[in-house]
Amino acid sequence: MPTLTATPSARASQERSVSLAQTVERDPASFLMLTGDRPTGPLHLGHYFGSLENRVSLQDAGVGLLVLIADYQALTDRPAAGDLPEIVIGLVADYLAVGIDPDRAAIFAHSQVEALNQLMLPFLSLVSVAEIARNPTVKEEVAAAGSPNVSGLMFTYPVHQAADILSCRANLVPVGRDQLPHLELTRTIARRFNERYCPGEPYFPVPDALLSDAPLLLGTDGQKMSKSRGNSVPIRATADETARLIARAMTDAERVISYEPGRRPAVSNLVLLAALCRGCDPRQVADETGAGGAAALKAAVTEAVNERFAAIRARRAELAADPGYLRSVLAAGNERVRAIASQTLAEVRKLMHQRY
Ligand code: TRP
Repeated sequence: MPTLTATPSARASQERSVSLAQTVERDPASFLMLTGDRPTGPLHLGHYFGSLENRVSLQDAGVGLLVLIADYQALTDRPAAGDLPEIVIGLVADYLAVGIDPDRAAIFAHSQVEALNQLMLPFLSLVSVAEIARNPTVKEEVAAAGSPNVSGLMFTYPVHQAADILSCRANLVPVGRDQLPHLELTRTIARRFNERYCPGEPYFPVPDALLSDAPLLLGTDGQKMSKSRGNSVPIRATADETARLIARAMTDAERVISYEPGRRPAVSNLVLLAALCRGCDPRQVADETGAGGAAALKAAVTEAVNERFAAIRARRAELAADPGYLRSVLAAGNERVRAIASQTLAEVRKLMHQRY
């Protein structure tokens, strides 16, 4: 995903996020949060520190949580493959292992909630093609793929994302900066629907973005962490796999380890990873490792990751041994969200005079 520089609107969102976080703390039960992941592979440490950890702490604070497995969105840049069921069930295992509680949260998949997808049609009528084309994230994806390769689904996926959020009438969406333009479009669609079909009595909540303040973790090659680049450590990796992945990580030629993200991105990223795992300041990790150099740093990172994730991994292995249970968790989540989204669609039809 492309990154955006801090535009005035990004700054405003950051400020809104801070005051929003305070409101969430005061009254968690008034929020319903929706987040999602594309089922393209197992979740990795970047997902954990960038998003999963925060989802769990909001859930534990009493915020309602819906977790979407965005299986239609995965089609924007690759065809559906035979291993999709394993990937989807693997995501459920990752979620539960990190602490998402299926008794409180609903985990569901796009393709299983018909009413959600149907809402895409009225929503498409509320936005212009030019407006979608101007969306900075869409623009960058179109530029990256080359416009002849951009499918209609890829082009309109911010509208689909609005359907994800609004079908559940979620009012809180934790996002990275790259997702802000999408959330802006969701807000626009909610407002337009309300103005057009129920002026004075808004039906859809206008959802808020909750910007994450987690530091950005890079891949083991110092580039953006991504499953397809093979530069990430999956949450479910074993201790040995973790050691191998960290051993391959890029460092630099300087002997003494320091934390200087601007000047030494690869080394600093390893330092940051160890610090996140240990819950300490990156400078402390750098000071401790100091003249030990890259080898000592890699040993420290491996140990920190393996310690931090030992319990999560043990739990994940247990869960993975019972795919029937994982499927039942997803089925229950699908059913819960189907009930919510069907009710939304029924009310939308009523407001749109589509009852004959
Ligand atoms: N676009 C998100 C991503 O690429 C996934 C996603 C789909 C999502 N629908 C969503 C996130 C709704 C938040 C809300 O990671």
